[in-house]
Formats: sequence, structure tokens, C-alpha cells
Amino acid sequence: MLNVSKLSASYGAIQAVRSIDLSVMPGQFTVLLGANGAGKSTTLRSIAGLHRPVTGAISLGNREISRLSLHNVVRAGLAMVPEGRMVVAPLTVEENLELSSFAGRNKDADLVDRVYELFPRLKERRKQRAGLLSGGEQQMLAIGRALMTKPQMLVLDEPSMGLAPAIVDLVFEAIVSLHKQGQSILLVEQNAAIALSVCDYGYVMRRGHIVVEGTPDELKKNPEVLEAYLS
Ligand SMILES: Nc1ncnc2c1ncn2[C@@H]1O[C@H](COP(=O)(O)OP(=O)(O)OP(=O)(O)O)[C@@H](O)[C@H]1O
Ligand SMILES: [Mg+2]
Repeated sequence: MLNVSKLSASYGAIQAVRSIDLSVMPGQFTVLLGANGAGKSTTLRSIAGLHRPVTGAISLGNREISRLSLHNVVRAGLAMVPEGRMVVAPLTVEENLELSSFAGRNKDADLVDRVYELFPRLKERRKQRAGLLSGGEQQMLAIGRALMTKPQMLVLDEPSMGLAPAIVDLVFEAIVSLHKQGQSILLVEQNAAIALSVCDYGYVMRRGHIVVEGTPDELKKNPEVLEAYLS
């Protein structure tokens, strides 16, 4: 279980995240919604160890992770797919996957096969350089790289951003299938309609605060959510 308690994060004098509480139970698929600049990425980056001017507590299982480096957060079992698909352009698909397996806790030969099963396109392109892949394929590879660390908690920042609708569907099908296999997921997503159709629980952020939370059915009925995100 991921538990975030009274998390605040700042950039100098700018308070991007203001004392938020959120949690993701084992096996749960949780989404974080909010307008541009609400503080969603800062929240994820703080959880993943990429942004350190933070106060509050972040725990994974019974381990406090808010003081750990990115590398040690990954080792503790949390992997993030950041905004903008971080892949190593000159390396092949296969090399990208192998590279991230060294960052994780487990070196497991079956992991690459699991990624290829989830994204058959990556298998077809395994000898191709990552920099030559389409945007959608790079997103699949970025997710694959996170999975190579065998994360207890998978955190994704807007995986659908900039992708054609058909590719968004492919990426979401893969995320839903991971969830069905028991993967715990925390997802930031712009497209509230898609997010609320697949998640178990959601939070809405505005100006650094969490303003609404609930099940997808509750959120879909919430006037504020309806007006801001589903109209
Ligand atoms: N590197 C930075 N330096 C200074 N301020 C930043 C930085 N990154 C983000 N901020 C500020 O922090 C606040 C939250 O930004 P954040 O990127 O977390 O929002 P977001 O909800 O992810 O938005 P988006 O939907 O556009 O991705 C904004 O006011 C933003 O201007
Ligand atoms: Mg963002």
C-alpha cells in the first residue's frame, strides 16, 4: 500500500502541492485528475523521489520512502513512467528493457517476455533503436521499462498525452490488463472520461489541494467534476 500523508512540495517560494493525503491499496487502480498546473506531476515526482523539497510522509508498505533517492525508491518497489516517455534513444528496444532490469530488485528473465506479451509491437521492434519508434511505441517502451523493475506500485504520468486515439486505446488496454493481473496503479490522466471508466478510485486536485475524492460513480456525479472535466 502507498500512503501519502500531509505531503507538501515547493519550487522555491511556489507551493505546488499543499498538504495532500492520498492512498493506493494493494491491487487498486487510483487516478489523480486536475487541470493544468494543479500539482499532479509534482505530486507524482515527489512520491517517486524525483522532487525532494517535500514535507510530509510517504510510505510504501511499512517503509517510509520520502527521504530515499530515486534509485532507492525503485528498489523499494515503486516505479514511475514520467511525463514525456523517457527512453534511451540510441539503444534498441531490447537494450532499453535490459537496462532498466538492473535498476530493480529482481533480475528475472521472464520479465522481458511479460512486457512483450503486453505489447506485441515492442517484440516486433525489439532490434530497433528506441529513437526511431513512434510516440505510441515509445510510451509502451517507457511502461515496459518501469515493469522491468517488477514494481509493487506503478505510477504513470499522462501516458496518453499526444497520442492518436487508437494508440491511447492500446495503451489503456495494457494498463487495464496489468490491473487485472493485480498490479497496483496510480495514474495521472487528462482524459477524465477514460480515467473514470477504468479506475477503482479517484482524486481531483486544484491549486495544490485535493478538492474531491471518491469512487468513479461518485466522481461522475459530482457537479464540480462534471463541469470541469466531463462536459
Ligand atoms: N520546475 C519548476 N519550477 C518552478 N515551478 C514549477 C516547476 N514545475 C512545476 N512548477 C509549478 O508547480 C505547479 C504545479 O505544476 P505541475 O507540473 O505539478 O502541474 P500538473 O498538474 O502536472 O499540470 P499539467 O496538467 O500541465 O501537467 C504549477 O504552478 C507550476 O508552474
Ligand atoms: Mg503534469
